[in-house]
Amino acid sequence: MPNYGDFQLEIYLQGLAGVRPSLPMTYAELARRAEASLSQEVFSYVAGGAGDEHTQDLNVAAFDRYGLIPRMLAGAAERDLSVELLGLSLASPLMLAPVGVIGLCAQDGHGDLATARAAARTGVPMIASTLSADPLEDVAAALGDTPGWFQLYTPADRELAASFVRRAEAAGFQGIVVTLDTQILGWRPRDLALASFPQLQGKCLANYFSDEVFRAKLDKTPEEDPRAAALAWALGFSDPALSWDDLAWLRSLTDLPLLLKGIGHPEDVRRAVDGGVDGIYCSNHGGRQANGGAAAIDLLPAVVAAAGDVPVVFDSGVRGGEHVVKALALGARAVGVGRPYAYGLAVGGEDGIVHVLRSLLAEADLLMAVDGYASIADLTPEALSAR
Ligand code: FNR
Repeated sequence: MPNYGDFQLEIYLQGLAGVRPSLPMTYAELARRAEASLSQEVFSYVAGGAGDEHTQDLNVAAFDRYGLIPRMLAGAAERDLSVELLGLSLASPLMLAPVGVIGLCAQDGHGDLATARAAARTGVPMIASTLSADPLEDVAAALGDTPGWFQLYTPADRELAASFVRRAEAAGFQGIVVTLDTQILGWRPRDLALASFPQLQGKCLANYFSDEVFRAKLDKTPEEDPRAAALAWALGFSDPALSWDDLAWLRSLTDLPLLLKGIGHPEDVRRAVDGGVDGIYCSNHGGRQANGGAAAIDLLPAVVAAAGDVPVVFDSGVRGGEHVVKALALGARAVGVGRPYAYGLAVGGEDGIVHVLRSLLAEADLLMAVDGYASIADLTPEALSAR
């Protein structure tokens, strides 16, 4: 089986023919070029976070406090990055985190479909957001044989929530991720300065506008009166009073694996597991929702310990392969990528996402090779020194 790190050989060999990569090889360059490719409003929405973005930046910086300890002559010529996760046998631990305006990051406005096609090409599963520019059925169809999960923002209307889950099941999604940290929108100065929130303009609401339950409660169809439909979405986007008492209802909606996203406290892990969830998704939403919080990676060890045998997916702050490796060593079963693939899409379309994923996997794989960790099972907290 080829190693993911072989991607570097491919690049160097093309260099012999005078060909350099047209897509960026560093995250900083990727972000710079994404800014040049996107409108000010969309770039602000993707790049920006809550408050002064301290937590968002800390998510990345905190990885530097952990150092991978090199092991020599450890037999890591071949690496096995495969993982088992909630019924899925995956070639790598990478996942495409749900990104609600990914649709707008594509030049043609169909970024959800481009992401699904990139998932199909790489085998990296996509977690499709509730807030998509194309209906979830079309996204699922573009995934091909690669598995996908559907991310649910729980609407205030429970019938609508049930309808989304039913549709996701029928479309072939293989897990439901309920995001808990966005019952209310965080304070985002960059977007506030532009007075811009894409969904209020009716963007990325395809799942709502195509839903019979949502449509039945409107006076006029979204096609006749898009503004009223967007307003109805805003008023019913979430139920801010959702509580642990509602977990039994969420659980009852599906037999698919159920994960809760936004978990950072071990007590919340225990409540989730007691309530019958199948997976925990440790994340602080990339620092977009609450500023002043701890770095997500610093919350991961206690979340993993509390989860026991229940698998933990992690995201927030992953920018390079070293971050993937460190999150795995701290106990994540799978690692979500957010902004990097949104920028990849902005810069290079579907190919741009594939490039970002291949680069992350190659870097992680080569790091494991150089430092003597042949498989994910070898990556334990003991592989890290705390700096
Ligand atoms: C997100 N995220 C997100 N999460 C979710 O559960 N549903 C969603 O619709 C969205 N939408 C969304 C839009 C944008 C533009 C971003 C950047 C992020 C959060 C996402 O799943 C993930 O938690 C973060 O992206 C992780 O942080 P980093 O690594 O991107 O900084």
